[in-house]
Amino acid sequence: MKRISVAQPRLAGNERDYVLDCLDTSWISSVGKYIGAFEQAFAEFCSVKHAIATNNGTTALHLALVAMGLQPGEEVIVPTVTYIATANAVRYCGAIPVLVDVCEGTMNIDPADIERKITPKTRGIIPVHLYGHPADMGAISELAHKHGLWVLEDAAEAHGAEYQGKRVGGLGTCATFSFFGNKIITTGEGGMITTDDDDLAARLRLLRGQGMDPKRRYWFPVIGYNYRMTNIQAAIGLAQLENVDAALFERERLARWYDEALKDLRDRLVLPAEAAWAKQVYWMYNIFLRDEGEERRDAVMAKLDSLGIETRPVFYPMHVMPPYAENTSYPVADTWAARGINLPTHQDVTQEDVAHIAAALAESLT
Ligand SMILES: Cc1ncc(COP(=O)(O)O)c(C=O)c1O
Repeated sequence: MKRISVAQPRLAGNERDYVLDCLDTSWISSVGKYIGAFEQAFAEFCSVKHAIATNNGTTALHLALVAMGLQPGEEVIVPTVTYIATANAVRYCGAIPVLVDVCEGTMNIDPADIERKITPKTRGIIPVHLYGHPADMGAISELAHKHGLWVLEDAAEAHGAEYQGKRVGGLGTCATFSFFGNKIITTGEGGMITTDDDDLAARLRLLRGQGMDPKRRYWFPVIGYNYRMTNIQAAIGLAQLENVDAALFERERLARWYDEALKDLRDRLVLPAEAAWAKQVYWMYNIFLRDEGEERRDAVMAKLDSLGIETRPVFYPMHVMPPYAENTSYPVADTWAARGINLPTHQDVTQEDVAHIAAALAESLT
């Protein structure tokens, strides 16, 4: 039986040639022509002035928070439904992630709940463009402006997504991306920080390379980190970026195939929503069961698995996870996260696969 994976990379462009070039020239570490080329191409892709490559999306988040001066005991607003790295990066700084509920449909951070959670200790907001759907950046930027906060877009899952026609990555103080193997473009492991702020970009570069003074080798004016990307990672990233238009087009086409194939199951399933301001990029095509209950959801996933279809649960909210557990209720997250399933979403899912997945879902929902 053919197995359909939930995510997989497409490495069909210049990846191999560029990696072999790194090996042939022995530029395999964190110096080499591909790093600058990838950073420049990614900055252009996001229409921003600066892109700073890191070794993964979590270190990108951590570095951004350090560079913006986050201090122990300060608070940062984070959505409760996200991948745990968003909250962890705040904790790495000794700061406090303050959890906020999400919006029904998109599962993006809810601006109304952000406003309720702002205190004198709040320093910034991390909207997450969850599963490739951009957060409500207009409302978030207004709140940030009103309260003097920075905004860090966690765009790990949303390469190429647009808010009112403008690509994510240039909509806040800075933004971070992940290039893990399951992302829209990948470098194996990798990350990027984008910003239009010249001073912030200089600080990010300094801190990324152990804090070494760019004008005086082996002189370290500050404590930095080794969060550098390798030339090999960047070589893969550059090749991936050359084909990003096709990646985005094929994901959009897949989403339309799913919409069509699943439309008759809408009495039992909620299909992905898109806000008026959004062009989403479907890192994951999500469905939500109308029936209550994690057990029911897990039974559907087990049935799909038995039919050769790999899926994943929508992220558990942070407030139910041991490190961040709270007794507070987050009504939208509590209602919907446990009903959500990520369906296979990658460029090698065919229209026949979608028909098979839809039939398997129809069977498992009866
Ligand atoms: C929303 C979000 N933030 C941060 C990360 C962390 O990225 P990485 O896995 O590259 O460290 C991820 C990725 O997996 C993510 O989905």
